[in-house]
Amino acid sequence: MPGKGLEDVVAAQTSISDIDGKMGRLFYVGYDIHDLATNVSFEETIFLLHNLRLPTKTELDQINEQLTVERMPSPWIREMLPTLAKEASPMSMLRTTVSAMSAYDSDGWSSDDAANYRKSIRLCARIPSLVAWYDAQRNGRDLVDPNPKLSHAANFLAMLTGSEPSADDARIFDMCLTLHADHTMNASTFTARVVASTLADMHSAVTAAIAALKGPLHGGANERVMKMLLEIREPVRAEEFIKGKLAEREKIMGFGHRVYKTEDPRATHLRRMSQQLGEQRGDPTWFEISHEIERVVMEEKGLYPNVDFYAASVYYYLGIPIDLFTPVFSASRASGWTAHVREQHNDNRIIRPESEYIGPRGRIWQPIEERG
Ligand code: COA
Repeated sequence: MPGKGLEDVVAAQTSISDIDGKMGRLFYVGYDIHDLATNVSFEETIFLLHNLRLPTKTELDQINEQLTVERMPSPWIREMLPTLAKEASPMSMLRTTVSAMSAYDSDGWSSDDAANYRKSIRLCARIPSLVAWYDAQRNGRDLVDPNPKLSHAANFLAMLTGSEPSADDARIFDMCLTLHADHTMNASTFTARVVASTLADMHSAVTAAIAALKGPLHGGANERVMKMLLEIREPVRAEEFIKGKLAEREKIMGFGHRVYKTEDPRATHLRRMSQQLGEQRGDPTWFEISHEIERVVMEEKGLYPNVDFYAASVYYYLGIPIDLFTPVFSASRASGWTAHVREQHNDNRIIRPESEYIGPRGRIWQPIEERG
């Protein structure tokens, strides 16, 4: 019987990403994440995850062009947006709009690989636009159109804030997107593959993945981390706060991981970015509180921060609203989800594990009047 929560179970074979949990290493298609984070753009990362190699200059130009063309949401989004901005939380908006996008997709219900690749690019291009427009709509600001001259990362920040980000901010956000792009059989990717394994379509699989990412034990952790930092307010209050939570046997969001037994390599970069942004902004508070929490959690529980911990302060410094942190995670992870859906479709067998029955046996039906 495998461990609870499918611990240690190999659920799929993949060529997309690989983790060495003991050594704290992450690879996309054989490239070390440290190498990728510092050297490639998110556009190159999308290409890598989908084509299992880095693009040539011409191929990079092509994928940039494809993403640029697909960034503008369809007209029906404008019609739905007022209702969604009023009634739906950001992740619910994303789940709903990605699901609805399937009805309007120019490739229809086709799931052949070429159609699935185009759908993947469309989803990667459009999810950031949906998030930015949702935020503008709910705050009564004008919807900013995508700017074809900007990179994927810079364009999102420009659509979200209404002004072009600095080159430093755009580069940092670009790196965040690459760091969050794929992570083996995490809960949302597994969900996407389960749905894809029934031969359901790309949008169904990504809709389900968004639903799985929403929870606080997965992508929802980054928002909770920031709320905790705001509640702590100053570094000197961190130790008492964390010890109090641990005494109540509460989990500290942004810590622990099923696979990593040492530092999550993505946290190494996010910690550095948080520190850098804190210094640049002249307000190191959020980095300093985070650093102090890290010290206390290590001392008390021996746990390392995961990707969501320092991502929280990085996004906050970049001016991203807290309840958009998890949608921003989706904007990046869509590249991995879609690559996994294609990989599953291209060598499919339905994912159908067993369960171990632990309920009663041998019961005899009774008429309803005799049941007590
Ligand atoms: N804070 C405090 N204790 C934690 C903890 C945390 N963030 N994460 C794990 N632990 C403790 C558990 O309480 C458990 O202790 P116990 O054996 O004394 O009961 C032990 O470490 C194992 O944790 P468990 O929840 O069984 O690990 P898991 O592999 O099932 O779960 C996570 C992995 C990521 C879901 C879990 O670490 C967690 O809930 N973290 C907080 C949420 C989060 O940051 N999620 C984002 C993941 S990228």
